[in-house]
Amino acid sequence: MSGSFQGPPPEGEREHWGGSAGFVLAAVGSAVGLGNMWRFSYVAAENGGAAFVVLYLVMTFGVGLPVLLAELVLGRGAQRGPIGAVLHYLGPAWRGLGVLFVVTGLLIFSYYSVIAGWTLRYAATGVVSGFGGDAGARFATVAEGAGAVAWHLAFLGLSLVVVLGGIRRGIERCAVAVMPLLFLIVAGLAIYAATLDGAAAGYRYYLAMDIGKIWSAEVFRAAAGQAFFSLSLGMGAMMTYASYLERTHPVSRESLTIAVSDFGVAFVAGLLVFPLIFALGLQSEVGESTVGALFITLPHAFHEMGGTGRAVGVLFFVALLVGALTSAISIFEVLIVSVSEGLRWSRRKSCWMAGALVGALGVLSALDTDWLGLLDLLAGNVLLIAGGLGLSIAVGFSSRPAREALGNSVWTSLWVTTLRWVAPPVLLLALMHALAGFWEALRSYMGA
Ligand code: PHE
Repeated sequence: MSGSFQGPPPEGEREHWGGSAGFVLAAVGSAVGLGNMWRFSYVAAENGGAAFVVLYLVMTFGVGLPVLLAELVLGRGAQRGPIGAVLHYLGPAWRGLGVLFVVTGLLIFSYYSVIAGWTLRYAATGVVSGFGGDAGARFATVAEGAGAVAWHLAFLGLSLVVVLGGIRRGIERCAVAVMPLLFLIVAGLAIYAATLDGAAAGYRYYLAMDIGKIWSAEVFRAAAGQAFFSLSLGMGAMMTYASYLERTHPVSRESLTIAVSDFGVAFVAGLLVFPLIFALGLQSEVGESTVGALFITLPHAFHEMGGTGRAVGVLFFVALLVGALTSAISIFEVLIVSVSEGLRWSRRKSCWMAGALVGALGVLSALDTDWLGLLDLLAGNVLLIAGGLGLSIAVGFSSRPAREALGNSVWTSLWVTTLRWVAPPVLLLALMHALAGFWEALRSYMGA
């Protein structure tokens, strides 16, 4: 099989990004998504606010950024999807790592699309009928069942339309068109939230430091998992996007832009979500449902706020949808490129094949939110961290060509040292905690 991954792409020349800004926006689009708002806010709430935010910042720049750079270097140099890139730079012994990336992508996309389906539904019904009624009961019907399956497939269909357009006319055009909208909405809503009475209590909850929690293993694992998930690392998404760069295109500054934007949007989303929740006195609801926190508490808040709430709510869900779409297409691309390079299928056929797999697998999450939560712990934590660990060891120790691609500078030595000696122990520790967390959840899932 390695032959087909290393051969020329089936449709002749590999497509490349139209411009540097297009690539950066697409990569930022991949990073910024449900992870920054839905996942970040409930994980931050569960893990004691500021202590988590600080650890998350450290993980993003201390470990995430070097691994991001490794992914970009591998993809750009190999001009192949993750399996081909791993074979090209690391050799057949590491093929399993490439396969792990693709499997992780498939699992993540299967539940990501379901949550994005909820988002699509809230955005659409927000326009038509607002956010009325009992938010908890509403969420229960949205989250599981035939409706959830239908909206999951609708969102998947939307992503399919984008990826069928290819890199430049599909993915790049979509990112360039919608990402500025996301930034505007999130910034605008954060400013609006600051004007609400009671916003200060929200800021306090979000930013007040419970210093003891910094040493908590659970908070540490959550921060590591969140950094990887949010930066789209550990499953080849960034690698795949970089494979559509010209070989001479720089990537160092780009990696910093991506990490700063990703952290920035998550941080500002927190400045929006917590004041809103506290201003309306809904904080006790947050702890009650984990995956549902944002989808119950916020619609409840929007409802309480009357007419303004409806406008704010629609804007919020539109921004969330934009984030979800530009992230989903990057996971999609990992699957598409792997099918098309592995089986030498046309892009079109590969898109449909990957879409069908995700569509079918996603039905399980659409019918059972416990399963969805479990998959997020497995794929969104354990497997991403494992993928990042493998990558930093492989690039740090075994691939000289990959390291040389960055040239000789202090920064390069710092990068290599981090990949060798900092990231692996940190990620190994995070992996052990992630495994323990998953194991516990699995046992209670089986028992339930
Ligand atoms: N980074 C995306 C988000 O924050 C999710 C994602 C994970 C995308 C892994 C691609 C790969 O929502």
